[in-house]
Formats: sequence, C-alpha cells, structure tokens
Amino acid sequence: MRGIEIDLSGKKAAVSGAASGIGKAVAIALAAAGAKVTVIDFNESATIQVADEINGTPLILDLSDSAKVEQTKLDVDILVNNAGLQTVSKVEEFDPERFGYMHRVMLIAPFLLTRNAIAGMYQKKWGRLIHISSAHGHRASPYKSAYVSAKHGLEGFSKTIALEAGPFGVTSNTIAPAYVRTPLVEKQITAQAELHGISEAEVVEKIMLTAPVIKRLIEPSEIGDAALYLCSESAGMITGTSLVIDGGWLAR
Ligand SMILES: NC(=O)c1ccc[n+]([C@@H]2O[C@H](COP(=O)([O-])OP(=O)(O)OC[C@H]3O[C@@H](n4cnc5c(N)ncnc54)[C@H](O)[C@@H]3O)[C@@H](O)[C@H]2O)c1
Repeated sequence: MRGIEIDLSGKKAAVSGAASGIGKAVAIALAAAGAKVTVIDFNESATIQVADEINGTPLILDLSDSAKVEQTKLDVDILVNNAGLQTVSKVEEFDPERFGYMHRVMLIAPFLLTRNAIAGMYQKKWGRLIHISSAHGHRASPYKSAYVSAKHGLEGFSKTIALEAGPFGVTSNTIAPAYVRTPLVEKQITAQAELHGISEAEVVEKIMLTAPVIKRLIEPSEIGDAALYLCSESAGMITGTSLVIDGGWLAR
C-alpha cells in the first residue's frame, strides 16, 4: 500500500499551549516526524515535562501578556497557534476583563507570534502556519461570545495571512475541531454528569454531541495527525482554508 511519508527532520516548530491536550498531541506528532519542537505554555512544570518527553525546548510564556509575546523571537519553520480557553456567560454578564483576556490569548497572541516568525519563513521560502480554531470558528453557540468571536477572528486572520504568504511558499490554515477528549472537556463531562444525575456516556451523547452525526469525542492524536498532514509537502497547495474535524456538525 502506498501512503504519504512525512519527514520533518531539519525543521523547527513551535506549538503554543503545548503543555496539555491538543497542543501536546500536536507537539508529539511533529516531534515524532523529526521536527525540533519548542513547547510554549505558562504551565511551567507541564511544559518542561512535555519538552523532556519529546526532546524539545520549553518556553514558559503567558500568552495574555502581549508586550512579552511581542518580544518573543521565533526562528521556526512551523508555528502552531493552539492555546485557548473557554468561559460560558450571558453577554450582559460577561466580565469585560475576561473577554479581553481570551482575545489576547486566542487572537492577539497568534497575530504576534505569526508576526515574529513569518519573516524567517519568507527567507527560507517555506513555512507552515496552523491555527487551532474550532467548529465555533464557523458556528455560534449562545453564552460563548468571547470564544466564538475570537475563533471567527482567527479564521479571518488565517485567510488574510494565506493571501500575503502564498508567494513566499508559506501556507496558513486552521484546524476546526468539535469536542476533543482533553482535560478541559473531561472535567466538563464529569461536572455535567453530577449536575444532571446521568452517566458520563449520556452527557457525551445527549448533551455534548447533539450536533455531530458521529457520536464520539475526537482523540487529541487525531488533531496531531491532521496538523502533521498540513506540514507535509503533499499539503503544499492547501492554504487559506479550514480543516474541519467535526463528525458532520457543520454539514447541517
Ligand atoms: N477540547 C476541545 O473540545 C476543543 C475543541 C475545539 C477547539 N479547541 C481548541 O483547541 C485548543 C487547545 O484546547 P485543549 O482542549 O487542548 O485545552 P487544554 O486546556 O487541555 O490545553 C490548553 C493549554 O493552553 C495553555 N494556556 C491557556 N492559557 C494560556 C496563557 N495565557 N498562556 C500560555 N498558555 C496558556 C494551558 O496551560 C494548556 O496547557 C484551544 O484553542 C481550544 O479552543 C478545543
């Protein structure tokens, strides 16, 4: 059987929010293909642990600190903007500071890291920018105004960069998953099961997965593999688009 071979040896990558969940899975996938990976996160012990695991470099950085992020120079061929967080609140009660914080982490930091990394990619005439968006980069849900607006912004940002960067051999794409089995989501499942007095399996099927046709959580490694594919030579003509991994949610 013929398959694609993805060899990233000689490439340098940076993944934000890589101390946990999806970012960690992406960092593992890129490192397994031979890339030297910088693990960016503000969770110091977990960042060092992941970097040790993959023979990478830890970079402890609070992505909400825009002044520090602006000064963070990145000499990389691959940048994965992944760090993110959720807050659920009615818009009239949404804490303005929290709204701004989420936008700094999920939209301003991707802009600043891209800004810092892209000139080096242009010089090498090769680069991959991958932004971890969400099904909520394409659809809205009530009470998630900060998250949905940041992810929609990230989609627009990625498309704009794709137009600027294409002539330099640099692609920019998003990956837009539905619910992924990460620590963040697992905590929500346990809490909801207790709240509603139902099993965790029922929470996943009847509360979380009403929109997708395929009723299971996505594994983080599936996102890692998708990111790896976008880094391949075979994906060189894929730019300015969104790789939606949602079990059919957006087909509705
Ligand atoms: N889990 C899902 O179901 C799901 C679905 C769609 C999209 N996403 C997106 O995937 C990305 C990763 O989510 P996850 O589920 O792996 O979450 P996670 O909580 O497991 O990991 C997020 C990581 O980001 C880091 N982080 C958060 N704020 C930071 C800051 N200010 N500075 C530095 N690091 C910071 C955390 O320390 C953590 O290691 C997010 O952008 C999220 O919106 C997740």
